[in-house]
Amino acid sequence: MNNIYLIGFMGTGKSSIAGELERETNAKVIEMDQKIVEQQGMAISDIFDRYGEEYFRDLETELIRSIAEEQNVVVSCGGGSVLREENAALMKKSGRIVLLEATPETIYERVKNSNERPILNGNMNVEFIRELMEKRRERYEAVADITICVDGKTKQEIGQELRKRL
Ligand code: S3P
Repeated sequence: MNNIYLIGFMGTGKSSIAGELERETNAKVIEMDQKIVEQQGMAISDIFDRYGEEYFRDLETELIRSIAEEQNVVVSCGGGSVLREENAALMKKSGRIVLLEATPETIYERVKNSNERPILNGNMNVEFIRELMEKRRERYEAVADITICVDGKTKQEIGQELRKRL
């Protein structure tokens, strides 16, 4: 219980805000993607290539089941992890869900040089990001307890705003 789940599109700054909360409050942080990479001994893009997205989504569900047993952790969630109902339900039961939102232009600037995001491989442009974000928006907003717009804010400002609203 009392966990904080940071969700939102790739590049909204979930990891850096988790890091900020860790510095400010000493909270323990779990980085979902990093945990999966460690557990599988493979990069996320290799997991997608070799076993496919469904397999990766199963790994996410398994990981969230174990995180939901923990107390007072800040979780930087994979951008697609709340798309499954079961995952969002586990998060809801064990803490609060905080959605970080940014414009497609901000996202693009942050992710354009990354090849570690298989969902965007071959689709690295603002239009694709805007469309996928629109497809996911309703879902993200439906599960979120708190929504924070990150455009034009420093991570310190976002961290402060979040702590105030928790
Ligand atoms: C994904 C987001 C990624 C990673 C995977 C799939 C998604 O995490 O889990 O590439 O479907 O949005 P980040 O949001 O941390 O980039």
